[in-house]
Amino acid sequence: MPFPTIRPRRLRHTPALRRMVAETTLDPTDFIYPLFIQHGENQRIPIRSMPGQSRLSVDQLAGEAAELKSLGVPAVVLFGLPAHKDPVGLENFADDGIVQQAIRALKQANPDLVVITDVCLCEYTDHGHCGLLDKNGYVLNDETLEILQRVVVSHARCGADIVAPSGMIDGMVAAIRGALDGEGYSHLAVLSYAVKYASAFYGPFREAADGAPRFGDRKSHQMDPANAAEALREAALDVAEGADFLMVKPALAYLDVIRRVKERFPELPLAAYNVSGEYAMLKAASANGWLDEQRAILETLTGIRRAGADLILTYHAKEAAGWLDS
Ligand code: PBG
Repeated sequence: MPFPTIRPRRLRHTPALRRMVAETTLDPTDFIYPLFIQHGENQRIPIRSMPGQSRLSVDQLAGEAAELKSLGVPAVVLFGLPAHKDPVGLENFADDGIVQQAIRALKQANPDLVVITDVCLCEYTDHGHCGLLDKNGYVLNDETLEILQRVVVSHARCGADIVAPSGMIDGMVAAIRGALDGEGYSHLAVLSYAVKYASAFYGPFREAADGAPRFGDRKSHQMDPANAAEALREAALDVAEGADFLMVKPALAYLDVIRRVKERFPELPLAAYNVSGEYAMLKAASANGWLDEQRAILETLTGIRRAGADLILTYHAKEAAGWLDS
């Protein structure tokens, strides 16, 4: 008998068989949709480098919440564009700040929507850095933690469900946990951007959120793309400080890191951030007719799940949820 009798192809024979043996699922409930919120009325300003995404004013959010609900996407993560920037980023913790308004509007529109807030300084500071700076332009660690504490408490007051510190400031999870517990918000969860690399793939986001550093870069606090063992150290610290979820960011050049973090900390839900540059790449290639857009996007998201992510922050959330439903 010259031919093989063991044939894995048997399990791929029909769509029903393929579905039955699929090891990875992709579902709208896995998605977290990022929203960029700005001041003004009736604003939907397209983001040039992220086709299909816009900056929205608060009055647009009820419609957004309804659409997400009908698509089965359970959660959003909010990024705010303040009216004014200053060295401290005062609007970041103001009662009527842009994110504070957005949380209230979304919760009013749909109390079941899980509202996650990105907690960082870079969109609010005039220098565009993720913390307070000393006179040499170095990001001050502990002084920045005090600001982050004020920000999370203000988000909690407005009804946020989860706060997500993204600045890679040492001790940020413990500081935030302490502030929330001290103010009576011990039930609020912390999703830590535990493993965040100094990545070129944040380019389009920095246009969208107007958060690019005015000088220098973020290499003194974000991780070096060369390192993976260090990611486990970062994740371990955040677990010890009380993080409820971990995140790896970006996703695609870091699928191995997602896998390693998931294997080391299987007890925590793991999120991966499919970042703006990853979105822009697929959109640009698809617009040129070089990729089958739907297949490429669903394959990408499935790959991130297969690597070990339970949840995916993705600008594809709405379109992917629509395709998965049909
Ligand atoms: C910082 C923050 C950034 C992103 C999310 N939170 C930018 C940065 O670190 O420079 C990037 C997200 C994306 O590229 O989609 N607040």
